[in-house]
Amino acid sequence: MSVQFTYGTRSTEQAAAEAVIRFVSKKELVQGEGAMPIVQPQIDDALKAQYAKGLFKADAEQVEVMPTLGLYPAAHIVFVGHDEEAGASGLRLAAAAAAKALKKLRAEKVQILLPDAVLEGAYASIGAERAAQALTEGLLLALHVRQPLKREQSERFTLKEVAFVPQGAAVAAEHATLWESGIAKGKLYAEGVNLARDLTNLPGNDLTPERLAYHAEEMARELDLEIEVIDEWSAAEQRMGGLLGVGQGSINPPRMIVIHYKGNPGSEEAWGLIGKGITFDTGGISLKRAEGMQEMISDMGGAAAVLGAMRVIGELKPAINVIAVIPTAENMPSDRAIKPGDVLRMMSGHTVEIVNTDAEGRLVLADGLTTAITRGATKLVDVATLTGAVSVALGTQATGAVTNHEELFKQVQAASERAGERIWQLPAYPEYKKQIKSDAADLKNSGGRYAGTITGGLFIGHFAEGLPWVHLDIAGTAWLESSRGWETKGATGVMVRTLIELIVHHE
Ligand code: BES
Ligand code: MN
Ligand code: ZN
Repeated sequence: MSVQFTYGTRSTEQAAAEAVIRFVSKKELVQGEGAMPIVQPQIDDALKAQYAKGLFKADAEQVEVMPTLGLYPAAHIVFVGHDEEAGASGLRLAAAAAAKALKKLRAEKVQILLPDAVLEGAYASIGAERAAQALTEGLLLALHVRQPLKREQSERFTLKEVAFVPQGAAVAAEHATLWESGIAKGKLYAEGVNLARDLTNLPGNDLTPERLAYHAEEMARELDLEIEVIDEWSAAEQRMGGLLGVGQGSINPPRMIVIHYKGNPGSEEAWGLIGKGITFDTGGISLKRAEGMQEMISDMGGAAAVLGAMRVIGELKPAINVIAVIPTAENMPSDRAIKPGDVLRMMSGHTVEIVNTDAEGRLVLADGLTTAITRGATKLVDVATLTGAVSVALGTQATGAVTNHEELFKQVQAASERAGERIWQLPAYPEYKKQIKSDAADLKNSGGRYAGTITGGLFIGHFAEGLPWVHLDIAGTAWLESSRGWETKGATGVMVRTLIELIVHHE
């Protein structure tokens, strides 16, 4: 989807807009006579009447669509409730709500009016560039939909032109360059997120580990990044017992994908970003129940987040080194699958007793961390749809985090706040590690139901070799049953923007 964005004062092209969007705050609706018009006196009166009846309260995401019946150059005005105090997230949310209304109206060419109140509020708290970025992201993220595979392709709505139009006179010129770069960033970030969503939404029969590696290779080639795809034979040479163990039950062999981005060749520092890439998780011999199992196509959401972020990093070219690692496998039951009671020797040399073959993510991630470390990573962030338990704790509202390094966690958290993606840290008391002690090996792969997200995280952390590490469990946030705000149903692409913020805005 290529939407053309512009910023500037109203031009003669105004008439071409099919709809005009106007963000409205509660404050404006209670203002009396003499205040600046919202859009046009009669339309303003109609809106205020809706407010008086309590039908339009300018709450966040609330939308009131009005036909203009010749009173205004565009056929419809879309009023969107907006809280001026809500910063970038408020703007992203308002733009997303507007986008959904535009889709209903099938309005392809639109104007977004930016009243002084919105601009001044936004500029004071986040600056013009981030305001522009948030609005652009909100529109592009909310309009992204899963492309279904059907015999007959149905017609899709595509937004074509968006003109941001400041309503007050004073601000236009001086902010134009900031707006343009904000728009460009918003487009890029949204592309990264939508790439992650598209990959995650692919059915398991179209996205095997080999196919995921192919997508990574395509991306690396386009961005001129170095990539290694380690097949099952090289993985065996490198003793990747975790990856191979999980993959051995499937006809589709596993892969270890490593992408190198060298933005600062003189530095020894390198971020290791590791994404869980289980292309389908049946649970293996410890088979999952049938209900809802189709959602397990999203068990490579962590891998998708890492690839989405790498796409943007590859475009923005920050002066920093990144090693992206994606251990990818299909977790299947079969006569050759791993079984409870088996002991695997991991790439690090540690041994693991399998007590539940459905706790497979941590096994491939352990080798993923070791791979990142052997390739030179000095700090590690893993992203994984690791545990159902994280949704029991946090629902779909926040990604769970486990860390061995408060300082690094604070950086990840700050990045997530800039991105408007919520992360909640869970405790990592040393006592929890007792749950994954084994009589048969160094560790066992499940610590049982209690504190499942923490013990799952700590299992992975065991393979960090003492390096700073943060684990992000996106099992509750990577997939939604119904859309909300700027997130569409199905794959959300969560953590793409957090990872970008972390890498790109790092000194
Ligand atoms: N991929 C699942 C976790 C998951 C569950 C993701 C629901 C998205 C939605 C993971 O591999 C898994 O099966 N975890 C087990 C761990 C347990 C066996 C220790 C779980 O959560 O039940
Ligand atoms: Mn599983
Ligand atoms: Zn899984």
